[in-house]
Amino acid sequence: MMPVLRILSVIVASAIVVGVLFPLSEPVSADAPVIEAVTVRAVRSTNSSQAILIGVAGCSAASCHGGREVVGGEYTHWATRDVAHRQAYDVLLSDASRTMATKLGIAAAHKEARCLACHSMDADPAETIHGPRFAIEFGVACESCHGAAGQWLARHTERSWKQLSDHQKSEFGFRNLRSLDVRAEACISCHVGSPRATVDHDLIAAGHPRLTFELSAYQAMMPKHWNEAAALQRQPEQELKLWMLGQIRSAKATADIAVARAEVVISASSTKGDLDLSRYVAPDLAEFDCHSCHHDLAEKSWRGRVSTNKKIGEPQWGSWSTASATWLAHESKSVFGLDQIAAESSLVQWTLLMQSSKLRGVPTGKLVNVARRASIDLAAWSQFLESNRSDEAQVRFFLKRSLAINSDNAFATTWDGHTQRYLAIVAAHQALRDLIGQTSSDQLLLTQTLTQLQELLKFPQGFATPRDYQAEQVQQLFRQLQ
Ligand code: HEC
Ligand code: HEC
Ligand code: HEC
Ligand code: HEC
Repeated sequence: MMPVLRILSVIVASAIVVGVLFPLSEPVSADAPVIEAVTVRAVRSTNSSQAILIGVAGCSAASCHGGREVVGGEYTHWATRDVAHRQAYDVLLSDASRTMATKLGIAAAHKEARCLACHSMDADPAETIHGPRFAIEFGVACESCHGAAGQWLARHTERSWKQLSDHQKSEFGFRNLRSLDVRAEACISCHVGSPRATVDHDLIAAGHPRLTFELSAYQAMMPKHWNEAAALQRQPEQELKLWMLGQIRSAKATADIAVARAEVVISASSTKGDLDLSRYVAPDLAEFDCHSCHHDLAEKSWRGRVSTNKKIGEPQWGSWSTASATWLAHESKSVFGLDQIAAESSLVQWTLLMQSSKLRGVPTGKLVNVARRASIDLAAWSQFLESNRSDEAQVRFFLKRSLAINSDNAFATTWDGHTQRYLAIVAAHQALRDLIGQTSSDQLLLTQTLTQLQELLKFPQGFATPRDYQAEQVQQLFRQLQ
């Protein structure tokens, strides 16, 4: 059975990002670039905090991950089908990147650490050492997600590797991506950003796509090089869990970035000297709802004011990557029967601080404390959720709650909020289908409405923004679902 809704979420997510649409079901060809196997030589001696990147050549041998089937052919599948990641470096040589570089005053995007951090394996050139066969041109490759392999490449082929615990493996730098929480963190380090690498408003203004990430939709879009059926069997509620962990980890990454920005401002203002303080800003404009500044001044624009907390004329703070987590924290008490979720109050504190301050008058010291608290609470919460298994009753309850979101908060009135809400419903709907193995008649109706919603949320052809967005029609469809 072809999971219809997975495809739906795919369409919306690609509409959101207006990236190039890659063929998802292209047959694996035998044309994966052949890289000879290399014996891993000891690279130079390093201190243990330095990660050693081996490079794709260390994984691609036919007897390792270069076979033809999915299992054993992970390299082949990544190289021929996961085109976006495989070509992430090549994109830095494109006209779009060249234009961006010119506007940003960068000599060459493909040599710029800021771009390479997310578009190649070289997450942090200062902290990594390259093995003799490492090549940056392979874009987002094995070690970007699975961890720098210098200390585990040889070990993981030995029998004893299977006996190690996840924790022991992680001490060698191996990421256990079977853990959905670890996976969420890995994807989000590039798709939302981290203190090391961010897509700030200057990058967006220069032409970089805005990062609007939602884990379950993005995983659905990513051509897999692992056994999906087995993964679903292990965790049939996976789709909803990915949605939840994705929201929590996205909010956490946003908090970590906010802390880092504020700390730069604080240290810059304490050293003063020759520093040009205007270069250091916290918060960055990309943390705010784009449409509170970028709106046509028409009388009846959907991009109007959404919050009564905010002074008139001040932009609305963070609607994409924080609103869902706040909603989820609130709902989780009833969905999971918990007394309280610490992250709910710290998210509220953070939001209140941002909404009560002027854009350029956010008290940075206080921001550091509040956002750091939120980051800690969000991490604890996602670790809790990781070990929690949701049964059919919980998934049904979650679906019911996501359908019932009332329309008077920021989350429920903007394109960002509507799209996030749509994606939450799709994830829960899909999880329920995976859990019970069929579609009931009331779900068929939901499928139809979701199809209509998806049409309304899509960007018009040729646009990277929800121009002429019909917010009222969308709200009406949501009301029908309640
Ligand atoms: C925080 C990580 C991050 C940083 C830093 C970053 N990018 Fe990206 N970039 C991404 C992601 C993720 C995408 C894909 C967005 C999507 O489709 O959702 C992307 C997409 C792009 C695209 C569009 C590609 C396409 O196929 O349409 C270009 C061009 C690009 N980046 C260039 C750059 C350049 C140039 C820099 C440095 C000035 C840079 N990026 C810095 C993460 C980053
Ligand atoms: C964009 C991130 C990403 C990249 C790049 C990537 N992987 Fe994966 N890989 C994953 C995820 C997520 C899984 C699913 C985890 C799981 O089920 O164990 C996975 C699963 C696997 C598995 C199966 C593990 C298992 O426990 O069943 C192997 C083997 C693997 N990848 C090897 C590779 C190799 C080799 C490369 C490079 C050619 C690569 N991966 C590139 C994210 C990635
Ligand atoms: C090292 C950074 C990095 C990591 C880690 C990473 N990605 Fe990506 N991803 C990118 C970049 C950069 C692009 C855009 C490249 C391009 O346009 O060619 C991208 C593109 C994509 C796309 C294609 C988007 C589109 O517009 O078609 C999907 C889907 C995706 N990533 C999913 C994932 C998932 C799921 C994970 C985690 C398992 C993940 N990525 C981990 C950097 C990363
Ligand atoms: C606080 C107000 C504010 C917020 C919030 C804001 N921007 Fe901007 N943006 C501006 C200003 C001011 C400019 C410069 C206008 C100009 O150069 O014409 C700009 C420029 C841009 C440009 C370049 C436009 C051009 O004509 O060259 C893009 C693209 C852009 N912003 C996208 C975004 C996105 C996407 C977001 C949300 C992530 C966002 N902005 C959030 C105020 C804002």
